[in-house]
Amino acid sequence: MDEHTPTSVDVPAKPAEVVRFNKVTKSFGEGRNAKVAIQDVSFVVHDLPDTGELIAIVGPSGCGKSTLLRIIAGLRPHFPATSGDTHAFGKPIERPDADRGMVDQKYSLMPHLTVAENIAFGLKLRGVGGRERRDRAHAWATKVGLEGNEDKYPSELSGGMQQRVSIASTLILEPKILLMDEPFGALDPKIRMQMQELLVQLWNEQQSTVFLVTHSMEEAIYLGDRVMRMATKPGRLVEELQLPRPDEPPEAMRKRPWFNDLTQDLLHRLETDAPPAGELPGIEKWRPRS
Ligand SMILES: Nc1ncnc2c1ncn2[C@@H]1O[C@H](COP(=O)(O)OP(=O)(O)OP(=O)(O)O)[C@@H](O)[C@H]1O
Ligand SMILES: [Mg+2]
Repeated sequence: MDEHTPTSVDVPAKPAEVVRFNKVTKSFGEGRNAKVAIQDVSFVVHDLPDTGELIAIVGPSGCGKSTLLRIIAGLRPHFPATSGDTHAFGKPIERPDADRGMVDQKYSLMPHLTVAENIAFGLKLRGVGGRERRDRAHAWATKVGLEGNEDKYPSELSGGMQQRVSIASTLILEPKILLMDEPFGALDPKIRMQMQELLVQLWNEQQSTVFLVTHSMEEAIYLGDRVMRMATKPGRLVEELQLPRPDEPPEAMRKRPWFNDLTQDLLHRLETDAPPAGELPGIEKWRPRS
């Protein structure tokens, strides 16, 4: 290379965009029967180098959380949006893609397949051979704490174990964007906390961007780098809050006064504060004072 060729060393690279929504509206039905699920939703998520970002989405039932996630995933009937632009990695979203993996509340396991076969199902679709599938499924079963259960069927597992199978079957495909729709909703509080910790650990390893829909403000604040709050009628984005990353287990963080104050504040705003759709003032940075 020519000695004088300019290099990009001095120019800080702008982080790449992972997801961009620009004035995205989705209506179901036509004319007088049309129902607006989300209106004018705009946001950008960048690729934070070596970390990924976890975006927690909160809001009342029917405000369009699942609609938003399913549009990112490219899943019908929510996709495509009625108007507005949706981009992933700088390209218009056109269909589901291996770089966007979805875990939903219903676990969606195949009852006639074993734990290992369920975990490796996506690999099989991608043509990965039997031995490699077994090895990788075993590695993932171990990561999510299901070692020794590989030959069981979903009906022999508890809800928490089924959810771990579902998470492993998505993460094994190493999606760059992980979409989780109330993944821990059906779990008892203790298992739920274990799953939150597991998610943080796996996410730190994989450094993907995670969108997590949750009805729990505590879960949103504990897990979220950013909390997106939505309001209903019409479904819209009304607040974006940037939060510190969890550096201790959920039980410990829940005891911090700032954590409780913020949880109460967010709950209060959820019930009382509903600005109109449109541009947000920006992402509010929040830092604990205690
Ligand atoms: N397939 C569909 N056909 C018609 N309307 C739909 C469809 N899916 C969602 N909607 C409507 O769009 C709105 C947003 O629904 P969505 O499921 O995204 O809400 P949500 O925030 O995920 O709610 P919840 O917290 O109850 O899961 C609701 O009014 C819902 O009735
Ligand atoms: Mg939903």
